[in-house]
Amino acid sequence: MFIQNPLNESELSFPILECIHIIGFAFSLGTIAIVDFRLLDWGMRHQTPSQLYRDTSTWTLAGIIVMIFSGLLLFSSDPDMYYLNVAFDAKMVFLVLAIIFNYTLHRKAVLADQGSRAIACTSLVLWAAVIFGGIFLAFINQGLSLKALP
Ligand code: HEM
Repeated sequence: MFIQNPLNESELSFPILECIHIIGFAFSLGTIAIVDFRLLDWGMRHQTPSQLYRDTSTWTLAGIIVMIFSGLLLFSSDPDMYYLNVAFDAKMVFLVLAIIFNYTLHRKAVLADQGSRAIACTSLVLWAAVIFGGIFLAFINQGLSLKALP
């Protein structure tokens, strides 16, 4: 029995979902980057990394939850196209690594105000890899060839 995905019935649902996905990305990665920039001593010196972390962690978690739910809905619009896409698979691997790192080593170091440049750079690189995976999945065909630009 073939079930029609309601997301594919309206032309507006995918772009609206992608907007929600980007808003979630701003809340989650935007707040993580604020703490990482503080660890790198790039501004916000009036607060310690742990204070910044405590002030932003709820927004970070809310943003990540919005990303996962909106992402799953985007994915459901054409699962075969996405899970066979190398960029999507790489994005999911980096996403799992980034979330684990964020809530283990990163959180422990930041709350103890012992966060180092290595911790900040690892965090930024992992999340950047998720973003690149998200952007490139629209440009890469199954089997790694680049999609022909319109
Ligand atoms: C915090 C985690 C995530 C981040 C930072 C992220 C980031 C992104 C970015 C930057 C885009 C490109 C948007 C554009 O080109 O307009 C994107 C698109 C997308 N993401 Fe995510 N994403 C995350 C989680 C997820 C999850 C968990 C899934 C699915 C299980 C997912 C599925 C998708 C899909 C299907 C697209 C649409 C690609 C297309 O245009 O066809 N994302 N994501």
